[in-house]
Amino acid sequence: MFFESFLINLSVIVVLIIALIFDYVTKFFSYWYVRHIPYKPSIPFIGSDYHRIFALSTGTDDVNKLYARYPNHKFVGRVKSRMPDLIVKDPDAIKRILSTDFAYFHSRGLSLFKSQDVCIRNNLFYADGEKWTLLRQGVDSLLNKMEFEFDLHTCLLGTNGDTNVQQLLCKVLDCVFSELLIGDGSAVNEIRLIICKRTYAEKFKSYLKNIFPSLYILFGMTTMPEPSNKVVKELKNSKLINYIKKVGNMHQLGLRDKNNRVSETEFAFTTLSLFITEGYIPCLTLLTALFYELALNETVQEKARNSVSKDGREDYLEMTIKEALRLHPPYSIITRQCMKTYQYPDSNLLIDKRITVNIPVEAIHKDEEHYKRADEFNPDRFLDDDSTSKHCYAYLPFGAGPRKCIGEQLALQIVKTVTRTILDQYILEPCAETPSILPVTDYNFGRCIDKDVRLRFVPRTNMN
Ligand code: HEM
Ligand SMILES: *[C@@H]1O[C@H](CO)[C@@H](O)[C@H](O)[C@H]1NC(C)=O
Repeated sequence: MFFESFLINLSVIVVLIIALIFDYVTKFFSYWYVRHIPYKPSIPFIGSDYHRIFALSTGTDDVNKLYARYPNHKFVGRVKSRMPDLIVKDPDAIKRILSTDFAYFHSRGLSLFKSQDVCIRNNLFYADGEKWTLLRQGVDSLLNKMEFEFDLHTCLLGTNGDTNVQQLLCKVLDCVFSELLIGDGSAVNEIRLIICKRTYAEKFKSYLKNIFPSLYILFGMTTMPEPSNKVVKELKNSKLINYIKKVGNMHQLGLRDKNNRVSETEFAFTTLSLFITEGYIPCLTLLTALFYELALNETVQEKARNSVSKDGREDYLEMTIKEALRLHPPYSIITRQCMKTYQYPDSNLLIDKRITVNIPVEAIHKDEEHYKRADEFNPDRFLDDDSTSKHCYAYLPFGAGPRKCIGEQLALQIVKTVTRTILDQYILEPCAETPSILPVTDYNFGRCIDKDVRLRFVPRTNMN
């Protein structure tokens, strides 16, 4: 004993423990200071993401604000709970991270690979290392084998007047993704309903998955229960399982444990959830935003309706979709994790292993430096060289580099077909309940429109 009194001893020990914890928690608080990177100050135990912990604003809003706060800097730092994380603003630096020096940044850093969640295990979006390479080739071959054409007329039947846009689009996308992956059946609808469920419990899980992945795994949480017998039966006869069989033994990649290989049906189920979380949901967000903007601007809507592709050049509808992706990118932030110490060229910036790097896609798309009158929805900007950025890394709705979106072509094909069909049959107008701004919020690692958007659908046949 150092001191006679038990109480003094006890208090010394308590003070020491508190000091150690404090040191652990604040260890990286000067990380960006010593690197001369401007940064958002941190609070012990919380870091600089208190806005999110207390639900004051979304992660995207925070990144957008920090992006704007330091106009002349290429990088901005933060401390997320305890670990430093970096926002990269400069398109040249982004090019290095996403493409040139991909070897250092090949992971998204979501640390969820041990999860038992069917949505996540064997999911390309979450995979890393060799598994990622193999899955990427596999899903690529699957996509190349897929062929589909769809007839949306039955899903649109009865649409007339003031309409809940998301409800209508879900009906349409259920048809599209069923046609693509299943054939006949309701599996897409069933899985989509589970994934889109936005109860508080689901929001909490999504929050844990995002911020404390290790707790998500530890508690064995899942977003997706094991498939019902009905879904399994449908999958066994689905187009998807045929594609998987044609591609070969890709399902064997997904080792669940040493003896227990993943079956084709289980792999089909994971792939179905991959297509819904990474394909269906961003398409839904994009189409909702696009219809909203088209309803608000008659001139643009009419030009998109009348556009036809001439000699392979980009038509006006394509530019309209491109502009919706700029102003309302379904993925507002792209993340990468530094896998080995990285010296940023021609500077003294050293990025350590395990640091998360954020590419602030939405903030870049809304930066006046890159896009003149960036807040305006104006597809014509893509005709006019002066009002769009010359840097191709300043337009990143699908990301870039070896890990960019694998479904870009499919997504554009779906969005274009759906939009063309709707514009053919309806005039879109705002109605009394149309919101004055689009209610976008964060969801998982992307964005979603979580409040109803209503627009008036006026059938065009009445007019001819
Ligand atoms: C408008 C629709 C879509 C948008 C805006 C979008 C956007 C993105 C973005 C930004 C990423 C991250 C890229 C990066 O980190 O560099 C991504 C990844 C991915 N997307 Fe898409 N996507 C869309 C539709 C689709 C569709 C239809 C599929 C269907 C298969 C799909 C499958 C994927 C997959 C599997 C990944 C992960 C790729 C990897 O990690 O290697 N996406 N998407
Ligand atoms: C519609 O978009 C065009 C640009 O394509 C713009 O000039 C016009 O002001 C917009 N109209 C409205 C009502 O916003």
